[in-house]
Amino acid sequence: MNSRRLGDRARSGLASTRFARLDWVAETGSTQADLLASAASGELAERALVADFQSAGRGRRGRAWTTVPEAALMVSVLVRPGPLDLAPTQLGRLTMAFAVAAAEACRDRYEVPVGLKWPNDLVATPDGRKLAGILAETTGLGTADAAVVIGMGLNANGPLPEEVADTGVTLAELAGQPVDREDLLVEVLSRFDAALGDLAGSADVPLRYRRLSVTIGQAVRVVLEEGHVDAEAVDIDDDGHLLIDPGTGELVPVAAGDVVHLRPR
Ligand code: BTN
Repeated sequence: MNSRRLGDRARSGLASTRFARLDWVAETGSTQADLLASAASGELAERALVADFQSAGRGRRGRAWTTVPEAALMVSVLVRPGPLDLAPTQLGRLTMAFAVAAAEACRDRYEVPVGLKWPNDLVATPDGRKLAGILAETTGLGTADAAVVIGMGLNANGPLPEEVADTGVTLAELAGQPVDREDLLVEVLSRFDAALGDLAGSADVPLRYRRLSVTIGQAVRVVLEEGHVDAEAVDIDDDGHLLIDPGTGELVPVAAGDVVHLRPR
């Protein structure tokens, strides 16, 4: 009898990290919705949840996130900012740390050229095709039970869903070989775990994020809830705000939105 559970190999690879509790399921609605519900119902410890298929996967700004079963790595992690001593203004660093961990895992372990498009997309360089998207959501902010759930969908292997076939790319295509999603998960979460060590006190993660950024220095269209603004993306601060110059010579911080690179490099 084969008693191997989904994710066993990844679970043992993560045994000494904060994400030793890893559940890997064949199907759920959304790993993000599942972990937000468990955080809201008092789940205190860090945990990670992976699904081979999501029937109601969600992306940023209310978009749906669809993938072909077992092709992408779809993971959410639950993190409590309290024990990390993160100030409320520093919460953006958690998502920065996750994005840096994922991008560095792709660059170092798979030797593929990827960068970070603000706020949290992994893109192939130089063509800008999207490799992964990251979504951060919170619950209980302002209370001792505050939790952040960070979810990533990374196109590990093909095929891509038809609607993103032209704008997306898989890690397997970039690496020239199939990608084992358990190995990839261990790479990403081990690096994320290490980055959480001194996230509040050190500017190392923001520095690495800026080094990976393909947005800094670009002419961008920033798409906000209430419209859009065209500007020069000048910098990204230590808490993840995009600093733009809309042509006035003054830097305006943007906390949330999407960007379109107007002259892709
Ligand atoms: C984006 O680019 O818009 C972010 C996409 C985030 C998708 C991931 S897949 C795992 C987790 N569960 C979800 O429902 N969404 C995130």
